[in-house]
Amino acid sequence: MTKYWKLQEDVESDQLAIAEAAKMLISGQAVAFPTETVYGLGADAANTEAVRRIFTAKGRPSDNPLIVHIADRSQLDGLVAPYDDKLTKLMDAFWPGPMTLVLPVLAGSISPLVTAGLTTVGIRIPDHSAALQFLRAAQCPVAAPSANSSGRPSPTTASHVQEDLDGKIGGIVDGGPTGVGLESTVLQVVGDDIHILRPGGVTAEQLRAIWAGAVHEPKREDSVFTSMEIPSSPGMKYTHYAPQGQMAIVQGASIQQVAARIQADINEAKYRGETTGILTFEEHQSFYQADLVIACGRLSEPSTIAQGLYAALRRFDEAGIRYIVAESCPETGLGLAIMNRLSKAAGNQLIRI
Ligand code: TXA
Ligand code: MG
Repeated sequence: MTKYWKLQEDVESDQLAIAEAAKMLISGQAVAFPTETVYGLGADAANTEAVRRIFTAKGRPSDNPLIVHIADRSQLDGLVAPYDDKLTKLMDAFWPGPMTLVLPVLAGSISPLVTAGLTTVGIRIPDHSAALQFLRAAQCPVAAPSANSSGRPSPTTASHVQEDLDGKIGGIVDGGPTGVGLESTVLQVVGDDIHILRPGGVTAEQLRAIWAGAVHEPKREDSVFTSMEIPSSPGMKYTHYAPQGQMAIVQGASIQQVAARIQADINEAKYRGETTGILTFEEHQSFYQADLVIACGRLSEPSTIAQGLYAALRRFDEAGIRYIVAESCPETGLGLAIMNRLSKAAGNQLIRI
């Protein structure tokens, strides 16, 4: 049985619930909790048996390392090697927040399962009061990947977590819907350069605004660039976020052409007898007809797209949609992370017209 705590925005009862959840985590169970990005599935990072429960519950490949969550920068002592002022500057600017820093790990400080045998560890301080209370109550670094089954869209509500993991984990802390809706930006500093390993809630533009050196965006899936000097994020190679139906993205210079192409593809699929879905934005919703048309946020405000993306992908599954065509959005700001997740959901099926 998975224990369930619903936070009520009532200080006393919430404190009690969080203390109970933290106790369960310390005892070696895996416990899901909200963050500002997506829900995480937490376990004591130093306890190998506990961390193994995360991999088992999610069905996660063991070569994909986990992010470690802390409440306070002082917890870096004894966990990672001493770091210089450049890193402090990043921490000052973006912690607490959706930035994961990949740092050299001190041998023996956490379970080797967390780092998948790498010499580095990804660390972040979430910007979410319940998450911070939970981490403080646990008093240990907490390893936590997104709390979904491997391959499915990340959870942005506690009921998404239940859909995937109910009965497989110790407990779920329900703190309502998450804010950003997409995962943190994973980055590594090499010399004077920042390498974004996974785009996310902190944008390349935000990083450039405070960073004197270069900020490298992740190489595209179709890139032939394979220098060994560029660090990489093991998780980026797996299929992710994929709905059960087949999905393609249409990209083009004019919305008239894009909309015409999408509707033509959908009509053909309908003719073949498939259930059809279109993923668009509020501004364009009226252009389309399909079994399920989802307007995922507003193009004029990319943060609203990020917030709704994973729930939208899950809705196509719930409706049993077999053929989905999505619009794309510009790859600037949060759009880079949105298009990264959308491309993965579509297995890189990008139709350029
Ligand atoms: O927003 C988030 O980051 C959420 C919340 C729960 O904090 N967590 C999350 O974890 O998205 P997960 O496990 O779903 O994704 C972790 C990503 C993977 O792509 C993994 O390969 C990468 O971070 N990663 C972890 N440790 C790494 C390391 N030492 N070097 C390179 N990449 C690393
Ligand atoms: Mg994940």
